[in-house]
Amino acid sequence: MTIPIDDMAAFCKKKGLVYNTADMYGGLAGFFDYGPFGVEIKNKLKAAWWSYWVQSREDIVGIDGAIITNPSVWKASGHTENFCDQMLVCSKCAAKQRADAFIEEQTGKNLEGASAEELNSLVAENKLVCPACKSSFKEVKDFNLMFSTSIGAAGGDDAYLRPETAQLIFANFKLIQEHARLKPPFGVAQIGKAFRNEISPRNFLFRCREFEQMEIEYFINPTIQTCPYYAELENTHFYLLDAAAQEEGTENILELTAKEAVEKKIMHEWHAYFLAANISWFASLGVRPENFRIREHMKQELAHYSSACFDLEYKFPFGYKELLGVADRGTYDLGRHQEHAKKDLMIYDDDTKEKYLPVVIAEPSLGVDRSFLVFLYEAYDDDKERGNIVLHLHPRLAPITVSVFPLTNKLAGKARELYKALKHSFAVSYDASGSVGRRYARADELGTPFCITVDFEEDGCVTVRDRDTTKQERVKIEALTSYLRKKIEG
Ligand code: GAP
Repeated sequence: MTIPIDDMAAFCKKKGLVYNTADMYGGLAGFFDYGPFGVEIKNKLKAAWWSYWVQSREDIVGIDGAIITNPSVWKASGHTENFCDQMLVCSKCAAKQRADAFIEEQTGKNLEGASAEELNSLVAENKLVCPACKSSFKEVKDFNLMFSTSIGAAGGDDAYLRPETAQLIFANFKLIQEHARLKPPFGVAQIGKAFRNEISPRNFLFRCREFEQMEIEYFINPTIQTCPYYAELENTHFYLLDAAAQEEGTENILELTAKEAVEKKIMHEWHAYFLAANISWFASLGVRPENFRIREHMKQELAHYSSACFDLEYKFPFGYKELLGVADRGTYDLGRHQEHAKKDLMIYDDDTKEKYLPVVIAEPSLGVDRSFLVFLYEAYDDDKERGNIVLHLHPRLAPITVSVFPLTNKLAGKARELYKALKHSFAVSYDASGSVGRRYARADELGTPFCITVDFEEDGCVTVRDRDTTKQERVKIEALTSYLRKKIEG
């Protein structure tokens, strides 16, 4: 069941998942603090991603770059000059709106990649006015989204909080490639914070000013374009909104396999592979693939250096919105850093005896906070029969895996012993307050997949209750760890 985003925010606050930052001071727009259970889900989500993309593969290594880096990086990448959104400012009260989002909301038009002229004429045609004071807007103007700061006691040197993690991969490219002894095709992954001074942060965690990204830059030799992993996932089902449909002003979805998308030349193998692998990763953690659609960027949306970009969108209650972008960046970034730093970033191929600049064939970039929202939406179930909310989180993502209850307080000693023993292997909580029914409800609302009740029986067993089916099973205490492990791994 879907609930509006504000209700989801309220639920997250109530259950200790996510708060407005420094809530007691009234919060701060676009900034959030993860509470004791939210941080567990978020850490598990990131660990699952890292395990899938880095630890279980030979061709992708990880890094952890600095949040504040040499400002030359942002000059070279083009962010200092171009990392802008267009802003509408009220001529009277000076209230600010992100132009494309505001006009889209008012007109229902898709304005991805719209120019300043187009936005200005839409404001005029639709007689759009400031929502706060109903006065007219000034012409749209560019607003750079990077947060700046200054370094050192004298505060002289301007620096920026990174607006994406990606550039640290490019800036360290040569060191990473040499130290990890990598030869294309290979990827570099990173999880970390990014900061954007969004004009209109909105929809809770969806558009914030401080967020986290999980990004990969995947480098190939431009003469070898085939993807060795693609065949494994070529039958993945895609719901695709292509550029042609959007240019005609329709939302006609093509249903086809990854292989068909490649055969029809809608995308190349690497894009098909990364999109399919992301769908498959989300599906392995309980997300229904039919809630995703792939949107091809139209020509006017593409950066000049990019030949193609696809978004993986999720059906949020406020519409299909970007969760992941998979862009083709060519040699733009390495080329720019090579030029600005005056360092050679070419690779020498021992086999062909040629030097070349690797091509970024795909940059899959996924938001941690948006993924967190997706997992919550997929899990959220207002179960009328039980009379409480159940979060059907995948056991690998649940903040608490097992909750241990004594049937009565007389069994507290035995139950606490079991709780302590299980704590070595799982995220366990102990709950002795209220009735067992109340404890089940509390566990359901936090998505705890297994509840164990310790009772008076002398058979060496306890009762394990499954969150999703509510079925109860008697399990020998000495077999509990392997029983739970099997269930968690599915
Ligand atoms: N390096 C490429 C890059 O940063 P992007 O499309 O700007 O591309 C990638 O961002 C992902 O980061 C998005 O798909 C989204 O999941 C997440 N993201 C971007 N801006 C965000 C924001 N303001 N709040 C939350 N997540 C955001």
